[in-house]
Amino acid sequence: MKRFRFLNFSLLFFLAAVLFSSCKEKPSFISDAEILRAHLNVSAEVANYSVLQLPNFFKNQFVAIQNNTPVNNPTTDWGATLGRVLFYDQQLSKNNTISCASCHQQSQGFADTSRFSTGFNGGTTPRHSMALANAVYYLNGRFFWDERAATLEEQVLQPIEDPIEMGMTMPEVIERLNMTEYYPILFENAFGSREVSNDKIAKALAQFVRSMVSYDSKYDEGRSTVSERTLDFPNFSQEENAGKKIFMSNTKVNCFGCHNTDVFIGDNARNNGLSEQNIDVGTYIYTQNELDKGKFKTPSLKNIAVRGRFMHDGSLTSLDQVIEHYNSGIRPNKNLDPHLVDIATRTPVKMGLTALEKSQLKAFLETLTDYTLLSDEKFSDPFK
Ligand code: HEC
Ligand code: HEC
Repeated sequence: MKRFRFLNFSLLFFLAAVLFSSCKEKPSFISDAEILRAHLNVSAEVANYSVLQLPNFFKNQFVAIQNNTPVNNPTTDWGATLGRVLFYDQQLSKNNTISCASCHQQSQGFADTSRFSTGFNGGTTPRHSMALANAVYYLNGRFFWDERAATLEEQVLQPIEDPIEMGMTMPEVIERLNMTEYYPILFENAFGSREVSNDKIAKALAQFVRSMVSYDSKYDEGRSTVSERTLDFPNFSQEENAGKKIFMSNTKVNCFGCHNTDVFIGDNARNNGLSEQNIDVGTYIYTQNELDKGKFKTPSLKNIAVRGRFMHDGSLTSLDQVIEHYNSGIRPNKNLDPHLVDIATRTPVKMGLTALEKSQLKAFLETLTDYTLLSDEKFSDPFK
């Protein structure tokens, strides 16, 4: 009897020990959600990127039709979440020092404070970083200041392999991501399989960038309350309403003619008279058409007031300088946009604004700042 009882006890001990050790070691006991949570501020309750609560004027007016989302890459919550993790991951650069977010900072409207951006190895980019909000609403769908990338999916892989920016090769990126515990899970959640590929990386990054829609500025709030954008906004000061009129007026320089629709973005690359010489050839790089020399993408002006540098060459340092450029500083250029040429004299237009009008225009530009977008957690660094 005694011997039997002893055996039973040792058997129990043995079983308990086996159970205990298997709990500790077997990864199958740790769920995918737990792995994600251990590394990332990404929970099972995934953030919403796909169904935005857009104001009505985004849906039924000119904005919606500018959407460049391709049919084969609709934005999903997990797709954009994977994009967010990639966007903030320094592993995408050769020496693990920089991520997309190094040069596209949320607080700067996803642009960079310095004139030119510093890459992984200390080199500097030839152009100023671009703000990313409302990239989804550029109908011609081309990207970069010179529009050399035909789609956003094509654009997002280029910084990774750029010798100044991140200095990687795609096979190296894929190897690193495969070796990182949580990536296969994120790829599965986003695209249904754990396989990591160029195509999926491009799609996820593009989805995240497209989800950066600005629709919660003082301008948007005011726009929602009136039937026509030309009417005075009740939430605007007198100064801001006067600035809006100047921005949208047809006399002299019509800002709204180029920075168009309620997201204030262009339709094409243009020359706005920054210099006479086209040292940077702009869109000529891919069209090889003389008439395109010195033309650059017309960016959205949302969040323009939080930015430290302006224009493709980052040459202007304040909104006052930008306004003075259009007011009196437009240079002749053989490809200067017709909107900026005085028909009678065939010279660059001069707005001739008074000091008061300049401050009104500036006050209006400041209403385009979207503090929600600039601080929304779903666009922030997801790493713990
Ligand atoms: C070292 C700084 C740097 C890094 C890193 C970087 N970018 Fe950029 N980005 C720039 C600059 C500079 C431009 C403008 C370049 C040009 O026009 O030639 C740009 C342009 C863009 C544009 C074009 C926007 C438009 O409206 O046309 C997108 C989109 C973009 N970057 C996304 C990304 C993504 C995604 C990553 C990470 C994979 C990334 N960037 C990494 C500096 C950087
Ligand atoms: C003919 C079209 C056109 C008109 C009119 C125009 N712009 Fe622009 N704007 C552009 C283009 C093109 C760029 C980019 C130029 C570059 O970087 O070479 C630009 C750039 C800017 C930028 C810098 C954006 C950035 O991301 O760095 C600001 C700010 C701006 N414009 C404000 C205005 C204001 C204010 C007015 C009216 C006084 C105005 N624009 C009128 C075409 C235009």
